[in-house]
Amino acid sequence: MLEISELRKRFAAAPGSPEGKLALDGIGFAVRPGEMFGFVGANGAGKTTTMRIVMGVLKADAGSVNWQGKPLGYAERQRFGYMPEERGLYQKMRAGEQIEYFGQLHGLSAAAAKKATDELLERLGLTERRNDSVESLSLGNQQRVQLAVALVHEPEVLILDEPFSGLDPIAVEALATALQERCRGGVPVIFSSHQLELVERLCDSVGIVSAGRMVASGTVGDLRAAEGRTLRVVVRGATPGWADGLPGELSLAGDRQVLLVTGGDDQEILRRAIKAGHVEHFGVEQPSLTEIFKEAVA
Ligand SMILES: Nc1ncnc2c1ncn2[C@@H]1O[C@H](COP(=O)(O)OP(=O)(O)OP(=O)(O)O)[C@@H](O)[C@H]1O
Ligand SMILES: [Mg+2]
Repeated sequence: MLEISELRKRFAAAPGSPEGKLALDGIGFAVRPGEMFGFVGANGAGKTTTMRIVMGVLKADAGSVNWQGKPLGYAERQRFGYMPEERGLYQKMRAGEQIEYFGQLHGLSAAAAKKATDELLERLGLTERRNDSVESLSLGNQQRVQLAVALVHEPEVLILDEPFSGLDPIAVEALATALQERCRGGVPVIFSSHQLELVERLCDSVGIVSAGRMVASGTVGDLRAAEGRTLRVVVRGATPGWADGLPGELSLAGDRQVLLVTGGDDQEILRRAIKAGHVEHFGVEQPSLTEIFKEAVA
């Protein structure tokens, strides 16, 4: 298990601003083996700072990062796969060589690095680009190389800062599948993203960070349950006043009346709706992760 506890980080003041910037204000969460954790939050919320601290690129002012019950150190991090926000690739190096090089840097033999590179190039649709220098690749293809670099040494843990940004839909699916496979093999995966539908679809659990604090976390199901359920009732040709006295909001859409209710006795509401007109829809609305997110960071 990867456990991140009570991280605090203040960046030094820029000239003219006395206070500095409190980027992390006690953030914490845990990711279990085989769990895909989606890290979401507005721009500047603290996702990258958290990931940099986990990877030892930055030092926290306080708090801890433990892996398998022990403080995370350099040797363990060598077995992690990391995709940094700043995307560090050697621009002049060929795509294939680069992936092999990073594989060897993380302890693979030359033969194993070559084999893993071949597989990743194939999976990520880069086989044709193998001998192209990174600088000559399109942005999305550079991103694919960056991902291959993070994955090549069969990492024990994956920490990926916005791995899906800039990828075309085919590459998004290829990456999603690759991550799901790693996850199934017991690897904890943390990735940040602003693509909330993707996070909702892929992640076992989600953490919503706002101003350096975790404001909500859990499975998407848990987060939904915490939101409270909203009942949506659509009645065509309803007699006026049918919903008087019911909790909730009634709106008109053509000859249909739409009632959104939180709370109340749903069976009573259903009886009233049937009496009033033709019930076209009666069901609990599932808030999307986007709605949950907006609510959590409001
Ligand atoms: N090196 C730095 N010096 C000063 N302030 C910094 C530094 N790095 C980050 N910050 C500040 O820390 C806060 C958190 O930034 P961070 O990059 O972690 O956000 P983020 O959640 O990754 O945002 P985004 O979604 O835009 O990538 C921001 O207010 C940012 O301006
Ligand atoms: Mg960031």
